[in-house]
Amino acid sequence: MKRILITLAAMGMALVAVAQPQLREDNIEDVLKAMTLQEKATLLVGGARAAMVNGVTSGVAANVPGAAGNTRPIERLGIPATVLADGPAGLRIQPTRQGDNNTYYCTGFPVGTLLASSWDLSLVEDVTKAMGNEVLEYGVDVLLAPGMNIHRNPLCGRNFEYFSEDPLLSGKMAAAYVKGIQSNGVGTSIKHYAANNQETNRNEDDAIISQRALREIYLKNFEIAVKEAQPWTVMSSYNKLNGDYTQQSEGLLTTVLRDEWGFKGIVMTDWGNKAGTVKSAKAGNDLMEPGNQNEIDRIIAGVQDGTISQEELDRNVRNMLTYIVRTPRFKGYEFTNKPDLKAHAQVARKAAGESIVLLRNNGALPLAGSEKVALYGVSAIDFVAGGTGSGDVNKAYVVNMVEALEGAGFTLEKALRDFYFAYLKYDKAKSKLSGNGGSWFSPRRTPETAIPANAIDSHAKANDVAVVVLGRNAGEGADRKMMDDFELTAVERELLQNVSASFHAAGKKVVVILNVGGVIETNSWKNLVDAIVLPWSPGQEGANAVADVLTGKVNPSGKLPMTFPVNFMDHPSSANFPYNYTASASRGFSWGPRQPQKDVDVTRYEEGIWVGYRHFVTRDVEVSYPFGYGMSYTSFAYSKPVVKAVADGFVATVTVKNTGSVAGKEVVELYVSAPDGGLEKPARELKAFGKTKKLQPGESQTLTLKVSAYELASFNEAASAWEAAAGKYNVQFGASVDDIRCAAPFTLKKAQSWPVHNVLAPTK
Ligand code: BGC
Repeated sequence: MKRILITLAAMGMALVAVAQPQLREDNIEDVLKAMTLQEKATLLVGGARAAMVNGVTSGVAANVPGAAGNTRPIERLGIPATVLADGPAGLRIQPTRQGDNNTYYCTGFPVGTLLASSWDLSLVEDVTKAMGNEVLEYGVDVLLAPGMNIHRNPLCGRNFEYFSEDPLLSGKMAAAYVKGIQSNGVGTSIKHYAANNQETNRNEDDAIISQRALREIYLKNFEIAVKEAQPWTVMSSYNKLNGDYTQQSEGLLTTVLRDEWGFKGIVMTDWGNKAGTVKSAKAGNDLMEPGNQNEIDRIIAGVQDGTISQEELDRNVRNMLTYIVRTPRFKGYEFTNKPDLKAHAQVARKAAGESIVLLRNNGALPLAGSEKVALYGVSAIDFVAGGTGSGDVNKAYVVNMVEALEGAGFTLEKALRDFYFAYLKYDKAKSKLSGNGGSWFSPRRTPETAIPANAIDSHAKANDVAVVVLGRNAGEGADRKMMDDFELTAVERELLQNVSASFHAAGKKVVVILNVGGVIETNSWKNLVDAIVLPWSPGQEGANAVADVLTGKVNPSGKLPMTFPVNFMDHPSSANFPYNYTASASRGFSWGPRQPQKDVDVTRYEEGIWVGYRHFVTRDVEVSYPFGYGMSYTSFAYSKPVVKAVADGFVATVTVKNTGSVAGKEVVELYVSAPDGGLEKPARELKAFGKTKKLQPGESQTLTLKVSAYELASFNEAASAWEAAAGKYNVQFGASVDDIRCAAPFTLKKAQSWPVHNVLAPTK
């Protein structure tokens, strides 16, 4: 009897040992085999808190307060919960915790649009190395960033999070971003894949896009980021694309992303619970976020009734386990909760300074730093460091323009300064009393206020220069409007007019700071003023970076990652964008089924590939500031353009010389005009770019830029193939898309083609 018991006990232990392997990097298949259906389904569905984890999974808490989500633990198999948090302008977690005197602030870095304005991949990598260190040290495994949708239209509410209207610049920026973050041993989630180019009805809107525009514009940047940087995760978007929710599109998530581009990580949904969980899982969307029990139940039911196969389920679970073994949580990393915020603030300041774009300067800048300044604009105090929504970082402080200018040595007109502080305080108190603070998505901003003309007159007499800060906030969940947002408000226009009139009459200059989250109208007023500095939303130290540029401590070298049009309607996408949408006005109250509403339920990208400069340059439409444009306090000459054919494309070199009197850096943009090869093509397209080191006056540097034949290709829908036409290519070196300095020819002797799958065609 005793022997039988011992044998049974030994068998039991053996069973336990077989059935309960503990997850290691090298036993993923064993763990997969040991998992029950319930456990597999559980692993594919996020759970924001360990407490939400259901019966089979007891609570290995991996909860960082304020993090956007978790994956669920399965303690029995040694699978920890992992933590996912936003992005992209820094880590977003809750800065304080109940019963805990420590603080958990994160650095507010420059927004994506400003980083892209640097055109400097190593700068972006430096920023994201520091950012990723905060991710690691605060116990987070994946930063839900970068945001990388294309700036299809200036009014997309989240453009500030995104990089550019150009897929190459966007893709390269994203790759550098991913490399920097992931160098810390934590992951990224490139988002929102794909075609989430508007916020209006972002959960349901169906983006109807031609295969060519998709491949060349809206997927190209993701392709570059995946191939160059292998992000740990990809976040599918909320919207539909050509009829399917992106999270349920096998063409997008499996055929293109994995089969064609070789993506090896997991795909997670954006934060919502759509009904088609099983369809998502089948399509290759591994993880549902933020996750709920219904989704677990649906997956279990789907396997039981055969809607999703065991192989498909196991494929996703295997992806999840492969992801989990890479995480710091799994590796037991002992995070400190003490990243070096002081050092990171300096990284943020430097990056902002190197990225700020100087749009206009008729000799007003740089200032000496000792001037008396009349500082106008409520945003000088209520400075916009980032945007609203999930991209808003909980930073310990934001330097405003008053602190920055006074810190730099300027003396501010006191009465004016005190007035703005008092006005802001009054307005905030008033809106609090009336309960009109806006929402989390769109917090109300204090509007600009009028300053009497006679007061401005006296400021002009008493001060050396006027600085006017124009502010715009933008954020998740809503698009910007054409009126009073893209366009200046009447009060802002009057302020600019009066300040310019008074200061110019007194022989003094006017400098405008555009502290904006997206493109605004500049053409009607730019000539009124003497200088325009564009720091976008530059992070917690951004105002100091603006001061660095104003005083010449930093010579500006940023360039525009998108076009500033003359009029909003000049963008072809404006014809199909909800630019004046208000939920109440357009939804109304009606009985019966609602007809799909143009640009709200269905948005047709009728402009095809003619996005941004591709349209403006090819069709010769006047712009206010072209793509790639930015001034410096020095000047540069380009010479010796050489293009050499190599086995796979060409290598180009160009020499840049600092011909001015102060040190500076120059961004060189390489554009190519391609032979048509049977396809209509943009007049020129960006194919590479580089930035010089800081060149001293008289100093030169030769930049080398490489372009492969594949990168020259356009997408032929009829053949479902990328095609590089044979013939002569004009390789141009530009200081902007409209300022080509020199060129050299390249000949592709034989046409080349790269066939891909015929997927993602519009069905309607
Ligand atoms: C946003 C994502 C974000 C997620 C988690 C969503 O609403 O679209 O960008 O990562 O929330 O906070």
